[in-house]
Amino acid sequence: MIAESETVELRIDALAAGGDGVARETGGRVVFVPFTAPGDRVDVVIEPGGTRFARGRVKTLLASGPARTDPLCAVFGSCGGCAWQHVAYDAQLAAKRAILREALTRIGGLAPPAEIPVIACPSPYGYRSRTRVVVAGGRVGYRRRRSNALCATARCPVLVPALDDALAALAARPPHEDGEWELAAGDGGEVRVTRVGAAGESSRRLVLAAGGERIERTPGVFAQANALLLDVLARAVVREAGAGETALELFAGAGFFTLALARRFTRVVAVEGDARAAADLVHNLAAADLHNVDVRAEPVERVLGACRTAHDVVLLDPPRTGLPRGLAPRVATLGARRLVYLSCDPATLARDLSEIVRTGYRLEHVEGFDLFPQTPHVEALATLVAD
Ligand SMILES: C[S@@+](CC[C@H](N)C(=O)[O-])C[C@H]1O[C@@H](n2cnc3c(N)ncnc32)[C@H](O)[C@@H]1O
Repeated sequence: MIAESETVELRIDALAAGGDGVARETGGRVVFVPFTAPGDRVDVVIEPGGTRFARGRVKTLLASGPARTDPLCAVFGSCGGCAWQHVAYDAQLAAKRAILREALTRIGGLAPPAEIPVIACPSPYGYRSRTRVVVAGGRVGYRRRRSNALCATARCPVLVPALDDALAALAARPPHEDGEWELAAGDGGEVRVTRVGAAGESSRRLVLAAGGERIERTPGVFAQANALLLDVLARAVVREAGAGETALELFAGAGFFTLALARRFTRVVAVEGDARAAADLVHNLAAADLHNVDVRAEPVERVLGACRTAHDVVLLDPPRTGLPRGLAPRVATLGARRLVYLSCDPATLARDLSEIVRTGYRLEHVEGFDLFPQTPHVEALATLVAD
């Protein structure tokens, strides 16, 4: 074992779920090293840590591995937004496949299919159509890595060009009000810049088009953020849900999947806890002339507590934290023949799936979507069928 704070030469083997490179000391201890890429040889300063795991920081990059590339962003490394701009895109995708598989097997104790595809983003930069920036004391930017301090920037290369320009304009003439601002681009390049949570916040909706549907959402309401994969994601979720008599959709948002479900099922119950999102959903259904959806603007916990009806299919798209405590076993008692679970966090997905599988469902299909290139995040779609 190496003494603490000593420098050690390591070879980076892989990328971990949190984004750090992973290496193994000769004694077997695993060391996590930020801003490294598979194949790199690095001199690392080891921070005080445990006997099995430690963290380190790069003192010297001795030799770049084949997965290393040049970051595009001037504030990469200090900004808290991206962790992988130094990793070639193919290597990012390979790491996401491994992260997804590892979460399902190690955290969930599941046996995923032999192949877990991760659908690549058509462009690893210029994809993001929604972001939040911080305005503080006349400066604009993101939070710094592992800090609340501002990392000022006027450019962000993961944003779609219209939003990148909007950020530059905001940084050139910063608003007087400090706080968080949402920058969002709609279909056709329309942009809204809105102060988050401000009284009198703009309520003009932005249009998103995906899977042949038109979804409008009020600024501040959740929206899928990868403009280049909206269509692919919508079609995949709808394909997995199939068609039938009744569908229950939990965490429906403004209706990104609901409109398509309404065309494929005789009746749909859509549950969304945010009142503004639920109002957008009602608006979107009316605009599409769809009248077979019962919108429940309530927490899913409350709706499921009282739900006695069986549904053919249940679609779940919870936030990063996954299903609220106790909900996974409850979902499994709804009698659905198919459960379709969309998740932005492999760890909470694996935790919830393992609870559901124990009640008599089989994991049939898993697929990833690279909605967040240059970050370790991966979206996953899992389908379970009743055994
Ligand atoms: C990841 S978003 C998905 C939204 C939608 N499916 C989409 O693709 O746009 C999760 C949604 O769940 C809602 N939500 C979070 N916790 C909830 C709860 N306990 N009950 C009901 N809705 C909740 C949020 O307001 C948000 O709209």
